Amino acid sequence: DETKLKQFFIGSIDQGTTSTRFIIFDGTGQPVAQHQIEFTQIYPHSGWHEHDPQEILDTVELCIEQAIQAFIHKGYDIADIKAVGLTNQRETTLVWDSNTGEPLHNAIAWPDTRTKGLVRELKAREGADDIKNKTGLPLSTYPSSVKLVWLLDHVEEVRKAYDEGRLAFGTIDTWILYHLNGKDKGIHVTDTTNASRTMFMNLHTVKYDDELLGFFKIDQNKIKLPKIVPSSCPDSYGSIAEGPLKGIRIAGCLGDQSAALVGQQGFTPGSAKNTYGTGCFLLYNVGEKPVISKHGLLATVAYDFGRERKPVYALEGSVAVAGSGVKFLMSNLGFITHSHKISDLAASVEDNGGCVFVTAFSGLFAPYWIDDAKGTIFGITQHTERGHIARATLEATCFQTKAILDAMEKDSGHKLTELSVDGGMSNSNLCMQTQANIIGIPVDRPAMRETTSLGAAIAAGFAVNLWKEFSELKEINQKDRATFEPNISKEDSAKMFKKWGRAVEMCRGWLD
Ligand code: G3P
Repeated sequence: DETKLKQFFIGSIDQGTTSTRFIIFDGTGQPVAQHQIEFTQIYPHSGWHEHDPQEILDTVELCIEQAIQAFIHKGYDIADIKAVGLTNQRETTLVWDSNTGEPLHNAIAWPDTRTKGLVRELKAREGADDIKNKTGLPLSTYPSSVKLVWLLDHVEEVRKAYDEGRLAFGTIDTWILYHLNGKDKGIHVTDTTNASRTMFMNLHTVKYDDELLGFFKIDQNKIKLPKIVPSSCPDSYGSIAEGPLKGIRIAGCLGDQSAALVGQQGFTPGSAKNTYGTGCFLLYNVGEKPVISKHGLLATVAYDFGRERKPVYALEGSVAVAGSGVKFLMSNLGFITHSHKISDLAASVEDNGGCVFVTAFSGLFAPYWIDDAKGTIFGITQHTERGHIARATLEATCFQTKAILDAMEKDSGHKLTELSVDGGMSNSNLCMQTQANIIGIPVDRPAMRETTSLGAAIAAGFAVNLWKEFSELKEINQKDRATFEPNISKEDSAKMFKKWGRAVEMCRGWLD
């Protein structure tokens, strides 16, 4: 019953692209204490995007400390925190010395496009045609594999560590787990969802694949790859070694987009969610067999709850720029002083005034996959104001979501009837109304939008038997949802989307 559910808690670490959070949920799925910290985005050159591995760890520790302080202050007891879950930005690639645990380079973040040339070479390499069938991913600058190859080819210390057999590779989850456990423990693991974004894992077997590693010329004897384990797992992720949560078990781990699907309870084939974070990612549950897309989507592991359960797969549409577009208007162009003010700025004008902004800062991802596209604003006239560009920035994500839904319909043969949303940009009513208008179906938004963190908490809670069946979760986060119904004609919507399509074609092949 509700009183009982309010007496146990699960902590959730959410390490995203621009910020880290720690949220403590009670058994009803309500957050009771939390802390969030933004961290440094490093852009050494145009198209390069890095994170400092130590800063990432520091923000995790600090978020835990601060949230726990708030938790205790509210009169709760740490002993009632039953487990911790972890969720993270995916694909971002780290390398460290397996003897010392010291990073050998900054993390290369997922939107980084320095590997553009390398990707062109790889596409011409023998075996390139099999990659997508095996991994569900097209060769692009996005997955971890190309980032690791770049590090091996360009950073002497990384190559040396590899040649000497002391190179450790991991995504953010692996790095954090290794350190939370205390590096002397040598915990070197990842979950199936994160592993499915490296391009080293065979999607069908959920194991590393010799042919894939061979294609990237990675010798398994020279590099320590994390062991792949289920996302919900009582005994693979170890426990926290230091600080206020010392001794508490880490029992769940999922890539952030998978965690959001779990947090939205997208457990039945045909359910979908769209998360508007730094990027925007639409995941559509396809059940226990992967569906390899023919229309520019990714196939990925949605979640893997282990024990007698099989991994569940998703079709995914990944948009590289969503919240980062708003951040660009704020930090680079000084249009607004805080990201939540984007809605007011966009509402200061009636429409986009004829502007279309293809926010291709990292090329264009799904369903287009144009590595050499650059951000371009079309339709500027003497009439153009900041408000028009703000609107066009929000619309860019909505248009890409529409293109992804069209591709999903072609791949799956089903048309989605409603879209569940979450993430920062979903706070904007104007943006969600625009989204409903562009896709022509209702958009459904929960009141509590920390669904990514909630998903990791759910995975951890299952591992320690706080819940046993998905049906036990059905009350969670169902109250006070908002629905945005389309309120423009189909013709007007189609006209807007046609203009977007033309803009996409025109931003191809910009010269470096
Ligand atoms: O694939 C990258 C994705 O996991 C990043 O998510 O929320 O930081 O945009 P987010």
